[in-house]
Amino acid sequence: MEKTAIEDRVFNPSEEVVSNANISQAVYDEAAADRLAWWGKQADELVTFFKPYEKVLDDSNPPFFRWFTGGTTNVSYNCLDRHYNSAKRNKAALCYESEIGRKVILTYRELYIEVNKFANVLKGLGVQKGDRVCLYMPMIPECAIAMLGCTRIGAIHSIVFGGFSADSLADRINDAEAKIVITADGNFRKGNPFPLKNNADVALESTSCVEKVIIVKNAGNDINVVEGRDVWYHDLMATADKYCKPEEMEADAPLFILYTSGSTGKPKGVQHTTAGYLVQTQATLKYVFDLKEDDTFWCTADIGWITGHSYVVYAPLALGMTTFMYDGTVDYPDKDRMWDMAERWGISVFYTAPTAIRTFMKWGNEYPRKHDLSNIRLLGTVGEPINPEAWMWYYENIGGSKCPIMDTWWQTETGGFMITPTPMVPLKPGTATIPFPGIEVDVVDENKQSTERGYLVVKSPWPGMLMTIWGDDDRYIDQYWKRFGDYYFAGDGAKRDDMGYIWVTGRVDDVLNVSGHRLGTAEIESALVECAEVAESAVIGRKHDVKGEAPVAFVILKDGFEASPELIDKLKKHVGVKIGPIARPDDIIFTGGLPKTRSGKIMRRLLRDIAEGRAIGDVTTLADPGAMAEIATKYSGKEE
Ligand code: PRX
Repeated sequence: MEKTAIEDRVFNPSEEVVSNANISQAVYDEAAADRLAWWGKQADELVTFFKPYEKVLDDSNPPFFRWFTGGTTNVSYNCLDRHYNSAKRNKAALCYESEIGRKVILTYRELYIEVNKFANVLKGLGVQKGDRVCLYMPMIPECAIAMLGCTRIGAIHSIVFGGFSADSLADRINDAEAKIVITADGNFRKGNPFPLKNNADVALESTSCVEKVIIVKNAGNDINVVEGRDVWYHDLMATADKYCKPEEMEADAPLFILYTSGSTGKPKGVQHTTAGYLVQTQATLKYVFDLKEDDTFWCTADIGWITGHSYVVYAPLALGMTTFMYDGTVDYPDKDRMWDMAERWGISVFYTAPTAIRTFMKWGNEYPRKHDLSNIRLLGTVGEPINPEAWMWYYENIGGSKCPIMDTWWQTETGGFMITPTPMVPLKPGTATIPFPGIEVDVVDENKQSTERGYLVVKSPWPGMLMTIWGDDDRYIDQYWKRFGDYYFAGDGAKRDDMGYIWVTGRVDDVLNVSGHRLGTAEIESALVECAEVAESAVIGRKHDVKGEAPVAFVILKDGFEASPELIDKLKKHVGVKIGPIARPDDIIFTGGLPKTRSGKIMRRLLRDIAEGRAIGDVTTLADPGAMAEIATKYSGKEE
């Protein structure tokens, strides 16, 4: 799939793009000269503080860094009130289209009123500053309203992606001890309602902290309403007051928790903070996606992921821009759905993931060709390394060979872009290029020395950084700061080329990237061993043309159980129910042993070698070197 010849191509930005860009060399120079002063300047320009901050960065207690200490602000105030009080009040803030074609446009004024009302609804249900509210919702305007409503009163939201199973939802509700769950009856998937509320009901059977469930009527499917616990969104909103004073929040007050996969079975609640997050998300959107007053920005990510938090909702609204969201499948009613909407809504900046681009590429360029995409002036990608072939397809067929592509590297933990070009940076297909101004990264070896190929680290704190892992400071330190001391370890490998550009090569820990979604191998393994038939399992990611990586499971059965196609189906289904459809293994291979070191650690690298058809490397350190031969035979037997 990779064409290395293309990797050497450099695409220089046109003079027109550079001269119109929000960024200039002076911005890079100023940030390089004094990065804290530069971040302070961004904060002064981009955030309205109620009480000014005293210090840009308090680094007295690493790795618990605190940004803009002493200052107070409110996120919903920054996203709404300041535009409501300006000429932007009648500008479209949020545009929405559902799969079945329902359209909503909310101006800043309208969104302001809805959010104020919803904040009062939450207050009326007893939600207080610091309480956790769990959102298990489709990509509907009410989801953005609920997020902003939480921030208005200082409640901490935890959004759980609608594709996650009831079990995953229950785990996240319990870990955050959420008091309220906000969901919808259902949403449409390929024309049929998907019963979201049913899933929530199952999850709620194994939680005891939830007091109320707020339900948005969306798909119109029948649902079960639990007397005394469940309340309809529209009933509560009908009588809610139109103004709710925004809570004055400390700059580093928790804003939201977002669960993501790590290398252990238990997802971690990444905890983000208020002012630093507002600064970095806005600064990156302004300089990287170069947003202008008349742009309509479409970030296709689900709000359940960090990309949706930062770049569908918070940054575009804080900057007073128009953000577009779509709730539905990309090929309904036909494979040109995305381009049809891009044309109809006049999208000018479009941001999606390599897995989606590869899917569009597979379908063929006749679909984008049916539509006038000339309004698009800038493109973006995120979630995994983009293969140069997909980059070129995107560049030519969606960008008309005139739009720069911003390949943005970042993570749930970083809050905003970290390594990314800006419109003035020469591009090479497949690399996220250089650090954003004010961000210091490096590629280091085991001994923390700069190298050409090694581990990707962030050398100094950044404003949008996570604060900790919810309820587990030790895990925060262990996970990110133990390996390289004062450098944040991102979990990715990277190399640097002769232009100094950074090429992220993928995860070096036990985390898979399936269609841009993070999954811990341990999560899938623990789902598998829950099945009565399974003694042990090892999960790896195998390269996949569209998904990037696909989970493959090697399974040892307990005595007395036989391998069969029915059992394979059963195990795959179980993982889908336990975690969510995205985690279902593509293949399950039954084996008698697994490659383990003498200390008992599974050598997943060797399993990947088998699954990707490479020669098996050194097996002398294995406790049972013979295990590999058996697995290789079983694997090739599966392929026949
Ligand atoms: O491996 C990197 C990959 O996605 C991981 C972060 O995943 P998540 O926290 O789910 O956030 C995804 C959206 C920000 C990273 O550790 N990744 C993300 N963007 C890129 C990438 N790999 C290469 N190039 C990118 N542009």
